[in-house]
Amino acid sequence: MSASSVSIKNLRKQYGDLEVLRGINLEIPAGQTVAVIGPSGSGKSTLLRVLMTLDRPTSGDIEIDGVPMWLDAHGRPAGPNSAHVRQVRGKIGMVFQHFNLFPHMTALGNAMEAPMRVLGMSRAQARERAAEYLEMVGLGDKLDVYPAQLSGGQKQRVGIARALAMCPSIMLFDEVTSALDPELVGGILQILRDLSARRSMTMIIVTHQMKFAERSSDRTLFFDEGNIVEDAESSVLFSQPQEARTRQFLDCVIEGQ
Ligand SMILES: Nc1ncnc2c1ncn2[C@@H]1O[C@H](COP(=O)(O)OP(=O)(O)OP(=O)(O)O)[C@@H](O)[C@H]1O
Ligand SMILES: [Mg+2]
Repeated sequence: MSASSVSIKNLRKQYGDLEVLRGINLEIPAGQTVAVIGPSGSGKSTLLRVLMTLDRPTSGDIEIDGVPMWLDAHGRPAGPNSAHVRQVRGKIGMVFQHFNLFPHMTALGNAMEAPMRVLGMSRAQARERAAEYLEMVGLGDKLDVYPAQLSGGQKQRVGIARALAMCPSIMLFDEVTSALDPELVGGILQILRDLSARRSMTMIIVTHQMKFAERSSDRTLFFDEGNIVEDAESSVLFSQPQEARTRQFLDCVIEGQ
Protein backbone atom coordinates (compact mmCIF):
# COMPACT_ATOMS: atom_id res chain seq x y z
CA MET A 1 0.00 0.00 0.00
CA SER A 2 1.25 3.51 -0.72
CA ALA A 3 1.19 6.46 1.67
CA SER A 4 -1.96 8.55 2.19
CA SER A 5 -2.41 12.28 2.44
CA VAL A 6 -4.21 13.82 5.42
CA SER A 7 -6.23 17.01 5.24
CA ILE A 8 -7.70 18.54 8.39
CA LYS A 9 -9.95 21.58 8.25
CA ASN A 10 -11.11 23.59 11.23
CA LEU A 11 -11.13 20.52 13.47
CA ARG A 12 -12.68 20.97 16.89
CA LYS A 13 -13.11 18.50 19.72
CA GLN A 14 -14.93 19.27 22.91
CA TYR A 15 -15.42 17.13 25.99
CA GLY A 16 -18.34 18.77 27.80
CA ASP A 17 -17.27 22.38 28.32
CA LEU A 18 -13.63 21.63 27.68
CA GLU A 19 -12.49 22.53 24.18
CA VAL A 20 -9.46 20.34 23.55
CA LEU A 21 -8.92 20.95 19.82
CA ARG A 22 -9.71 24.51 18.82
CA GLY A 23 -9.85 24.70 15.06
CA ILE A 24 -6.91 22.71 13.72
CA ASN A 25 -5.96 23.20 10.06
CA LEU A 26 -3.33 20.82 8.77
CA GLU A 27 -2.29 19.39 5.42
CA ILE A 28 0.10 16.45 5.43
CA PRO A 29 1.27 15.24 2.03
CA ALA A 30 1.54 11.50 1.47
CA GLY A 31 4.80 10.09 2.81
CA GLN A 32 5.72 12.94 5.13
CA THR A 33 6.79 12.32 8.75
CA VAL A 34 5.47 14.87 11.21
CA ALA A 35 6.41 15.19 14.89
CA VAL A 36 3.96 16.74 17.35
CA ILE A 37 5.31 18.35 20.53
CA GLY A 38 3.70 20.52 23.18
CA PRO A 39 2.76 20.69 26.85
CA SER A 40 0.79 18.00 28.66
CA GLY A 41 -2.93 18.43 28.05
CA SER A 42 -2.50 20.46 24.85
CA GLY A 43 -4.50 17.97 22.77
CA LYS A 44 -1.80 15.89 21.05
CA SER A 45 -3.24 12.47 21.91
CA THR A 46 -6.74 13.72 21.21
CA LEU A 47 -5.65 14.62 17.68
CA LEU A 48 -4.32 11.09 17.16
CA ARG A 49 -7.43 9.49 18.67
CA VAL A 50 -9.64 11.55 16.39
CA LEU A 51 -7.48 10.62 13.38
CA MET A 52 -7.71 6.96 14.36
CA THR A 53 -11.55 7.35 14.41
CA LEU A 54 -11.55 6.35 18.10
CA ASP A 55 -13.20 9.70 18.81
CA ARG A 56 -15.49 11.72 16.62
CA PRO A 57 -14.75 15.41 16.01
CA THR A 58 -17.22 17.93 17.41
CA SER A 59 -16.93 19.80 14.12
CA GLY A 60 -14.61 20.24 11.15
CA ASP A 61 -13.44 17.87 8.45
CA ILE A 62 -10.81 15.19 8.07
CA GLU A 63 -10.02 13.77 4.66
CA ILE A 64 -7.76 10.83 3.94
CA ASP A 65 -6.62 10.79 0.31
CA GLY A 66 -9.35 13.33 -0.36
CA VAL A 67 -12.08 11.07 1.07
CA PRO A 68 -14.07 12.55 3.98
CA MET A 69 -13.68 10.37 7.06
CA TRP A 70 -17.19 10.79 8.43
CA LEU A 71 -19.24 11.08 5.21
CA ASP A 72 -20.07 8.07 3.08
CA ALA A 73 -19.90 7.92 -0.71
CA HIS A 74 -23.34 9.58 -0.90
CA GLY A 75 -22.24 12.47 1.31
CA ARG A 76 -24.29 11.21 4.27
CA PRO A 77 -22.94 11.10 7.84
CA ALA A 78 -21.36 7.71 8.55
CA GLY A 79 -21.46 5.96 11.94
CA PRO A 80 -18.32 4.80 13.77
CA ASN A 81 -18.96 1.17 12.82
CA SER A 82 -20.16 1.82 9.28
CA ALA A 83 -18.43 0.12 6.37
CA HIS A 84 -17.19 3.53 5.26
CA VAL A 85 -15.49 4.44 8.55
CA ARG A 86 -14.07 0.94 8.91
CA GLN A 87 -12.57 1.23 5.46
CA VAL A 88 -10.94 4.57 6.29
CA ARG A 89 -9.70 3.21 9.63
CA GLY A 90 -8.17 0.28 7.78
CA LYS A 91 -5.62 2.65 6.27
CA ILE A 92 -4.43 3.81 9.68
CA GLY A 93 -2.27 2.08 12.27
CA MET A 94 -1.47 3.27 15.76
CA VAL A 95 1.15 2.41 18.37
CA PHE A 96 0.73 3.60 21.96
CA GLN A 97 3.03 4.22 24.89
CA HIS A 98 1.92 1.02 26.60
CA PHE A 99 2.43 -2.00 24.52
CA ASN A 100 -0.95 -3.70 24.94
CA LEU A 101 0.37 -6.98 23.62
CA PHE A 102 -1.70 -10.14 24.10
CA PRO A 103 0.16 -11.82 26.98
CA HIS A 104 -0.88 -15.35 26.01
CA MET A 105 0.47 -15.04 22.47
CA THR A 106 4.06 -15.13 21.24
CA ALA A 107 5.57 -12.17 19.37
CA LEU A 108 4.63 -13.92 16.14
CA GLY A 109 1.10 -14.64 17.37
CA ASN A 110 0.63 -11.02 18.36
CA ALA A 111 1.61 -9.80 14.90
CA MET A 112 -0.48 -12.46 13.08
CA GLU A 113 -3.74 -11.93 14.93
CA ALA A 114 -5.17 -8.83 13.22
CA PRO A 115 -4.17 -9.74 9.66
CA MET A 116 -6.01 -13.05 10.09
CA ARG A 117 -9.00 -11.70 11.96
CA VAL A 118 -9.45 -8.33 10.24
CA LEU A 119 -7.97 -8.88 6.79
CA GLY A 120 -9.05 -12.51 6.56
CA MET A 121 -5.52 -13.64 5.74
CA SER A 122 -4.66 -17.33 5.90
CA ARG A 123 -2.53 -18.49 8.82
CA ALA A 124 0.41 -19.23 6.53
CA GLN A 125 0.23 -15.83 4.85
CA ALA A 126 -0.15 -14.00 8.16
CA ARG A 127 2.79 -15.90 9.62
CA GLU A 128 5.01 -15.00 6.71
CA ARG A 129 4.07 -11.34 6.88
CA ALA A 130 4.37 -11.13 10.68
CA ALA A 131 7.80 -12.78 10.61
CA GLU A 132 8.95 -10.34 7.95
CA TYR A 133 8.02 -7.30 10.05
CA LEU A 134 9.40 -8.77 13.26
CA GLU A 135 12.66 -9.33 11.43
CA MET A 136 12.55 -5.77 10.17
CA VAL A 137 12.38 -4.44 13.74
CA GLY A 138 15.27 -6.69 14.77
CA LEU A 139 13.28 -9.45 16.49
CA GLY A 140 13.91 -12.26 14.04
CA ASP A 141 15.25 -14.39 16.90
CA LYS A 142 12.27 -13.71 19.22
CA LEU A 143 9.36 -14.92 17.11
CA ASP A 144 8.29 -17.60 19.58
CA VAL A 145 8.84 -15.64 22.76
CA TYR A 146 5.98 -14.42 24.99
CA PRO A 147 5.69 -10.72 26.00
CA ALA A 148 6.62 -11.48 29.63
CA GLN A 149 10.07 -12.58 28.43
CA LEU A 150 10.69 -9.44 26.37
CA SER A 151 12.25 -6.14 27.46
CA GLY A 152 10.26 -2.90 27.21
CA GLY A 153 12.06 -1.92 24.00
CA GLN A 154 11.42 -5.35 22.50
CA LYS A 155 7.74 -5.21 23.45
CA GLN A 156 7.46 -1.82 21.81
CA ARG A 157 9.07 -3.23 18.68
CA VAL A 158 6.52 -6.07 18.63
CA GLY A 159 3.83 -3.37 18.89
CA ILE A 160 5.30 -1.59 15.88
CA ALA A 161 5.62 -4.84 13.87
CA ARG A 162 2.04 -5.72 14.77
CA ALA A 163 0.78 -2.38 13.44
CA LEU A 164 2.94 -2.65 10.30
CA ALA A 165 1.62 -6.14 9.55
CA MET A 166 -1.72 -4.48 8.73
CA CYS A 167 0.02 -2.49 5.97
CA PRO A 168 -1.29 0.92 7.02
CA SER A 169 -0.73 3.92 4.77
CA ILE A 170 -0.71 6.20 7.83
CA MET A 171 0.98 5.37 11.14
CA LEU A 172 0.35 7.23 14.37
CA PHE A 173 2.81 6.91 17.26
CA ASP A 174 1.82 8.22 20.68
CA GLU A 175 4.79 8.49 23.03
CA VAL A 176 6.17 5.14 21.98
CA THR A 177 9.45 5.73 23.76
CA SER A 178 8.19 7.31 27.01
CA ALA A 179 8.13 4.06 28.94
CA LEU A 180 11.58 3.01 27.76
CA ASP A 181 14.99 3.34 29.35
CA PRO A 182 17.02 6.00 27.54
CA GLU A 183 19.39 3.48 25.99
CA LEU A 184 16.47 1.73 24.27
CA VAL A 185 15.16 4.90 22.66
CA GLY A 186 17.86 4.93 19.97
CA GLY A 187 16.72 1.55 18.60
CA ILE A 188 13.14 2.74 18.17
CA LEU A 189 14.38 6.01 16.64
CA GLN A 190 16.33 4.05 14.04
CA ILE A 191 13.28 1.97 13.15
CA LEU A 192 11.14 5.08 12.69
CA ARG A 193 13.83 6.74 10.60
CA ASP A 194 14.10 3.69 8.37
CA LEU A 195 10.32 3.61 7.94
CA SER A 196 10.22 7.33 7.24
CA ALA A 197 12.97 7.07 4.61
CA ARG A 198 10.92 4.56 2.64
CA ARG A 199 8.13 7.13 2.17
CA SER A 200 5.66 4.28 1.97
CA MET A 201 3.65 5.61 4.92
CA THR A 202 2.65 8.97 6.28
CA MET A 203 3.74 9.15 9.91
CA ILE A 204 2.69 11.29 12.86
CA ILE A 205 4.85 10.98 15.96
CA VAL A 206 3.77 12.50 19.28
CA THR A 207 6.64 12.72 21.73
CA HIS A 208 7.94 14.55 24.80
CA GLN A 209 11.50 13.85 23.77
CA MET A 210 12.75 16.79 21.72
CA LYS A 211 15.78 15.09 20.21
CA PHE A 212 13.57 12.20 19.21
CA ALA A 213 11.11 14.59 17.55
CA GLU A 214 13.86 16.43 15.71
CA ARG A 215 15.66 13.33 14.51
CA SER A 216 12.65 11.26 13.51
CA SER A 217 10.68 13.80 11.46
CA ASP A 218 10.66 16.07 8.43
CA ARG A 219 8.36 18.57 10.02
CA THR A 220 7.36 19.49 13.56
CA LEU A 221 4.16 20.98 14.95
CA PHE A 222 4.20 22.75 18.29
CA PHE A 223 0.82 22.39 19.96
CA ASP A 224 -0.49 24.55 22.75
CA GLU A 225 -4.01 24.73 24.18
CA GLY A 226 -5.58 22.89 21.29
CA ASN A 227 -3.95 24.92 18.54
CA ILE A 228 -0.95 24.55 16.28
CA VAL A 229 1.21 27.46 17.40
CA GLU A 230 4.14 26.73 15.11
CA ASP A 231 4.58 24.47 12.10
CA ALA A 232 7.99 24.26 10.43
CA GLU A 233 10.66 22.01 9.03
CA SER A 234 12.04 20.14 12.05
CA SER A 235 15.60 21.40 11.70
CA VAL A 236 14.25 24.98 11.62
CA LEU A 237 11.72 24.68 14.42
CA PHE A 238 14.29 23.37 16.88
CA SER A 239 17.11 25.74 15.91
CA GLN A 240 15.16 28.93 15.15
CA PRO A 241 11.70 28.82 16.70
CA GLN A 242 9.72 31.83 15.55
CA GLU A 243 7.04 32.03 18.24
CA ALA A 244 7.79 33.20 21.77
CA ARG A 245 5.61 30.40 23.15
CA THR A 246 7.64 27.76 21.29
CA ARG A 247 10.91 29.24 22.55
CA GLN A 248 9.62 29.26 26.10
CA PHE A 249 8.50 25.61 25.84
CA LEU A 250 11.77 24.44 24.27
CA ASP A 251 13.86 26.32 26.85
CA CYS A 252 11.88 24.69 29.62
CA VAL A 253 11.95 21.10 28.37
CA ILE A 254 15.56 21.19 27.30
CA GLU A 255 16.59 22.40 30.73
CA GLY A 256 14.56 19.59 32.29
CA GLN A 257 15.98 16.84 30.03
N1 LIG B 1 -12.29 11.20 26.96
C1 LIG B 1 -12.06 12.39 27.54
N2 LIG B 1 -13.00 12.99 28.31
C2 LIG B 1 -12.78 14.18 28.88
N3 LIG B 1 -11.65 14.89 28.76
C3 LIG B 1 -10.68 14.36 28.02
C4 LIG B 1 -10.82 13.09 27.37
N4 LIG B 1 -9.68 12.83 26.70
C5 LIG B 1 -8.86 13.88 26.92
N5 LIG B 1 -9.46 14.80 27.70
C6 LIG B 1 -8.87 16.07 28.14
O1 LIG B 1 -8.41 16.73 26.98
C7 LIG B 1 -7.22 17.45 27.25
C8 LIG B 1 -6.17 17.08 26.24
O2 LIG B 1 -5.80 15.74 26.45
P1 LIG B 1 -4.74 14.98 25.55
O3 LIG B 1 -4.65 13.61 26.08
O4 LIG B 1 -5.06 15.15 24.13
O5 LIG B 1 -3.41 15.80 25.89
P2 LIG B 1 -1.90 15.53 25.46
O6 LIG B 1 -1.42 16.73 24.74
O7 LIG B 1 -1.80 14.22 24.76
O8 LIG B 1 -1.18 15.46 26.87
P3 LIG B 1 0.04 14.52 27.37
O9 LIG B 1 1.28 15.17 26.79
O10 LIG B 1 0.00 14.65 28.86
O11 LIG B 1 -0.18 13.14 26.87
C9 LIG B 1 -6.86 17.16 28.69
O12 LIG B 1 -7.28 18.24 29.48
C10 LIG B 1 -7.65 15.92 29.00
O13 LIG B 1 -8.00 15.86 30.35
MG1 LIG C 1 -0.92 12.38 25.25
